[in-house]
Amino acid sequence: MLYNLYFHPLSKFPGPWWAAISHGHEFYFDVILYGRFFKQIEKMHEKYATRLTLSLPCPIVRINPREIHINDPDFYDSIYASSAHIRNKDPGHIIFGSAPRALVSTISHSQHRLRRSILSPFFSKASILRVEPLIQAKADRLIARLEEVGEEGRTVDLYIALTAFASDTVSEYAYGVGYTNLEARDFNGYMHETITRLMHTVHVARFFPFLFPILSLLPVGLARRLSPGLGKILEYRAVMARFVARALHEKGGEGKERATLFEALASPSVPEQERTAARIEDEAWVVNLAASETVARALTMLVFFVVKNERVLRTLRGELKPVMQMSECGSTWKQLEALPYLTAVIHESLRLSFGPATRLPRISPDKPVVYKDWVIPPGHPMSSSVWYLNVNPTLYPDPLVFRPERWLEAAAQGARLPLFNFGRGARACLGINLAYAELYLVAASFIHRLCTPPYCIRLLDNPSVEDMMPYRDLVMGASKKGFFGLKIGVVRDGGEESGDEEVGRGE
Ligand code: HEM
Repeated sequence: MLYNLYFHPLSKFPGPWWAAISHGHEFYFDVILYGRFFKQIEKMHEKYATRLTLSLPCPIVRINPREIHINDPDFYDSIYASSAHIRNKDPGHIIFGSAPRALVSTISHSQHRLRRSILSPFFSKASILRVEPLIQAKADRLIARLEEVGEEGRTVDLYIALTAFASDTVSEYAYGVGYTNLEARDFNGYMHETITRLMHTVHVARFFPFLFPILSLLPVGLARRLSPGLGKILEYRAVMARFVARALHEKGGEGKERATLFEALASPSVPEQERTAARIEDEAWVVNLAASETVARALTMLVFFVVKNERVLRTLRGELKPVMQMSECGSTWKQLEALPYLTAVIHESLRLSFGPATRLPRISPDKPVVYKDWVIPPGHPMSSSVWYLNVNPTLYPDPLVFRPERWLEAAAQGARLPLFNFGRGARACLGINLAYAELYLVAASFIHRLCTPPYCIRLLDNPSVEDMMPYRDLVMGASKKGFFGLKIGVVRDGGEESGDEEVGRGE
């Protein structure tokens, strides 16, 4: 303890003594109080005011014995650097503990580069453009199912419906066998429930990394009896294991015109040590997790804000109408990307949906990293979080106000507002092109078909902006109760009156 406080290479960095001596406080706030450490980090920045001004929050603090947290948008690219700089992940902070061999969990810079080079072609813009008809077909199915829900007078959790869409889309694209969550009466909720339960264990798994590998050896039946969530996760992985075994048996589908993700990873051209069933299963598992909740959350926030804001809705509908009517088959991603207001709405929705709201530490193993007067010695995790950056009042005045115009105003002045959701550098989101294609195609169809007469969307339970903001860091942000969602009614011809908020009605 004394060493950590006085003699440790990080002992001169600002931060409370109790953060410097042990990880006890982090354990308390993240495990016992369940994902609340991110709020403590905010308080640390506030408490250690900049020494020069003694008023502004200090951008750099030591948040535990070995990690420095920096809240400065200008320094972001130095932490999340390009592949020209070595950046390892922190073995003490792997957010996908249930998939230790996946790309996103890979500690070493060089191994990460190898793994990423195998997967990258799958998610390039050209590859995603080729599967645009598949994405549009899933978006159409989603809208048709929501219309049915409306006809039947039922309500739905939009987040679950969108998770079903994203999961069905990525599974069909990446595995070649699509899930059919969109066909289920309640959109299955299976994927969503699995992920939510997994998110609930994320900090425990971080502090006790040996737990999940042991639990995953349990037979599914026993796991289900111990915990329904664990049972679901193991069931899900068992299905995946069968696909992987087939891909390995068929030698990665040699000679096929278009390989699936399983097949690409099982191809004989991949180094043998990388071609194991466990490694491929982990990757496939992460791809589905990473692709579902993030996209579903951004679209849920988009609907929440747009439907709440009549002015934004009218402007968006006006911009979309001619483009959507131009072709019976719907609009293409390329046409939609050229629409400035839709683009601004998507960026503003992403900003306030945060994506993975947790901090994402990186380590420079060989060289010190300099931040203003501070030199972060090699080997020490440094982190930043989208939770603070996306609501930075200097970049985004009135940060919790949904104002797509801020993106247009910046563009008019020749500037470009930053967006931190997808991370940056060599380990930035691999699925960004798929994510954008889904965001554009679903947002346009949703607004044009369900927020335009004869349909309108009713938000149930009158959620406030605060209700939709992260209260807990369970990698993705979660509410006080540990969940995220948005209950909606799809109303045709106005529908009956109720005390719930009703907006998004046609002119
Ligand atoms: C709005 C949607 C999305 C957001 C905000 C998002 C955000 C992120 C972020 C911040 C990371 C870095 C994580 C870290 O540093 O540990 C990441 C990584 C990753 N994402 Fe996404 N993501 C989104 C959608 C997707 C989709 C659709 C896929 C499809 C497969 C995907 C696949 C991945 C993968 C494979 C990685 C690991 C990349 C690596 O380690 O090199 N993501 N994502």
